[in-house]
Amino acid sequence: MLANTQILLTVCTIGVLTADAYKITDEFGVGRRFDGIGGLSGGGATSKLLVSYPEPQRSQILDLLFKQQHGAALQILKVEIGGDGQSTDGSESSHMHESWDESYHRGYEWWLMKEAKKRNPDILLSALSWAFPGWVGDYGSDPYKNVSKLAYYTVSWIKGAKEVHNLTIDFIGIWNERMWNNDYILELRSSLDRNGFRNTKIVAPDTFGMEYSGFEKLFENATLRNALYAIGVHYPGTELPRNMRSNGVPLWSSEDYSTFNDDVGAGCWARILNQNYVNGNMTSTISWNLIASYYSALPYERDGLMTAMHPWSGHYTIDNPIWVTAHTTHFASVGWNYLKHGKGSGKLGAGGSFVSLTNGKDLTIVIETLSHNHSICIRPSLPAYNVAEQSATFVFSGSFSAIKKLQLYTTRFFFDGRSTVPFEKQADAIITDSKLTLRLAVDAVYTLSTIVSPGRVEPKDIPAASDFPLPYSENFDSYAADEEPHYLAQQNGAWEVVKSEGESFVRQKVLNHEIAWCGQSFASTAAVIGDAKWRDVSISIRVRVPSSKGANTLFAALRSSSYGCGEDTSTGLFLWLNPNTTTYWISYDIASLHIAYIGLLPTPFQLDQWHTASLSVVGSTFSIGIDSHSISVALGKGAASHGFVAFGSQGYGYSDWDDLRVESGVDDVFFK
Ligand SMILES: *[C@@H]1O[C@H](CO)[C@@H](O)[C@H](O)[C@H]1NC(C)=O
Ligand SMILES: *[C@@H]1O[C@H](CO)[C@@H](O)[C@H](O)[C@H]1NC(C)=O
Ligand SMILES: *[C@@H]1O[C@H](CO)[C@@H](O)[C@H](O)[C@H]1NC(C)=O
Ligand SMILES: *[C@@H]1O[C@H](CO)[C@@H](O)[C@H](O)[C@H]1NC(C)=O
Ligand SMILES: *[C@@H]1O[C@H](CO)[C@@H](O)[C@H](O)[C@H]1NC(C)=O
Ligand SMILES: *[C@@H]1O[C@H](CO)[C@@H](O)[C@H](O)[C@H]1NC(C)=O
Repeated sequence: MLANTQILLTVCTIGVLTADAYKITDEFGVGRRFDGIGGLSGGGATSKLLVSYPEPQRSQILDLLFKQQHGAALQILKVEIGGDGQSTDGSESSHMHESWDESYHRGYEWWLMKEAKKRNPDILLSALSWAFPGWVGDYGSDPYKNVSKLAYYTVSWIKGAKEVHNLTIDFIGIWNERMWNNDYILELRSSLDRNGFRNTKIVAPDTFGMEYSGFEKLFENATLRNALYAIGVHYPGTELPRNMRSNGVPLWSSEDYSTFNDDVGAGCWARILNQNYVNGNMTSTISWNLIASYYSALPYERDGLMTAMHPWSGHYTIDNPIWVTAHTTHFASVGWNYLKHGKGSGKLGAGGSFVSLTNGKDLTIVIETLSHNHSICIRPSLPAYNVAEQSATFVFSGSFSAIKKLQLYTTRFFFDGRSTVPFEKQADAIITDSKLTLRLAVDAVYTLSTIVSPGRVEPKDIPAASDFPLPYSENFDSYAADEEPHYLAQQNGAWEVVKSEGESFVRQKVLNHEIAWCGQSFASTAAVIGDAKWRDVSISIRVRVPSSKGANTLFAALRSSSYGCGEDTSTGLFLWLNPNTTTYWISYDIASLHIAYIGLLPTPFQLDQWHTASLSVVGSTFSIGIDSHSISVALGKGAASHGFVAFGSQGYGYSDWDDLRVESGVDDVFFK
């Protein structure tokens, strides 16, 4: 395949290693335009804990993600357009819960985009929906039912970005990993144009590369092709269907990686960043996710470029995918071009790959020699291949024939107990007679460039990790209206601070079932907080259900786990309250399939009034209190042993929550 065509001749032998030679030239023109390397915040709620970090750590982390020539120096920030529904590690709030509701101060993506722009004014912004609020599809499950309504919803978000936050959205998608709709693509294009967003380009369909074939049809219809900027596929495994003709449309891996961020994950990232172009002509790769900033017990722990899931301590880790990204982003900008296959980009003779990037003057070559077992990504499966230590001779011509030396930066991965040395500056590589021979180790990344980078600069004195601090209390007074409270990780629905008549509390605001992206075979709203390892804890919380648009059935739970897309099957010790009645019950699961106790309150749970609920578990005794009523039950078979504190409702509708207190292992404290 490609590999053979790049080996021009064998030029020399170093020791026992044969050096294959590779042309680096623009004599026959250049290859595709480089569209940048990105990170995806959301899909869902993956940056939830980042915004809660203390300074200076929060700024250090943002610098490591976005500041130019610093850490990852990302070139694209892709964000979720919140749709109120679970989208993997939580839900993100929509800007329009209902057609009559609108706010551009919800969630943390606006904040994140502005922080990114502060650090790199050239960073490109991209956005995509996972779930949609129900009204968009007339309360059915099809968002494309009325494409002009959907376009109105999406363009409103882009307008809000511009008018409220002065953010220009560069790229917009359709519906994450679901079927696209041709009429909607055309309607969105014309709606963007009518509203002054001619420069906001459409990337679609954001479906799995190999699983859903058929997206190549988007190239065949000229009207559709012209409405699109790029075809974005997910997890393509560096390849697109053979014989596909892209008719000049840029090809992107618009979501990729999703791999635990140890050195195998970093190896995966290094391999796909190069090979998405070498094998698939893809010119942009976006990591899901940007940063693993969600509770570790939620799905896909640490599948981000770095990890920040301890805001209470300020602890974070700079994982090696950050430095793998730097190997490209410190040395090439969006708008540069790759060199063509066989003219600067291709496979190496003994395994591995290289790509060259140029702006016509400067030159960057990124080489990776990751072995199979040390670069496996979460998906798709990786066919076997071999990589051996090798020498490679690069032969420069065209615009590059006069280059005398290149900066050299290396990352060596070791899987034998030695620690990896990422992104290390080496002595310059000297080019003699337009040739440069490099000895390439296995499991390494090399950058050769005319551009100078400061190399690896890391913050010192990162605080040690600590557990979620107890006792913990939150009265929601310190937030602005619509803000999402720190640490309270919404799993379905939208949990936003409301300020009313001198009170400040958090309200679940979604009134109708969303067009779900995952989970949600039955309707429930939920938010979790704390530590999924918690066993014996006590909480108290005030709760109120408004008589207008209030929820029907509420819960508070301890030892609750299995959230994310598995929310429907969550377990825990649930106390359920039925507003306006005297009934309450205890169940071991969110679906109330396993009911442990049913009780009656002395007086009905009044609407529009605050009540105090308390829950405490010590060993196998579970105690609950509702105002002055309390009981204890001995836990039976099937009762969960550990998990988060959780709140929510079955069915939608407002529920108000205030004055949360969590203590560890306190017996009976609320009932004295
Ligand atoms: C589609 O939605 C728009 C509002 O965005 C509305 O004016 C129009 O009547 C709707 N069309 C249908 C067929 O319901
Ligand atoms: C909006 O952002 C642009 C840069 O994108 C900047 O030049 C301009 O000053 C900003 N406007 C305001 C009002 O902040
Ligand atoms: C291209 O797709 C659009 C949207 O589905 C459709 O209206 C149009 O007829 C198609 N054109 C051709 C030539 O198939
Ligand atoms: C990808 O690039 C190769 C080499 O230039 C070319 O042969 C192939 O047709 C391209 N594939 C697509 C889908 O553009
Ligand atoms: C790669 O991993 C597989 C499965 O664990 C193992 O059988 C194989 O020996 C490994 N290959 C190398 C080269 O280490
Ligand atoms: C509450 O109960 C009263 C008495 O049964 C009933 O009239 C009222 O409609 C109920 N309100 C709600 C919101 O369910």
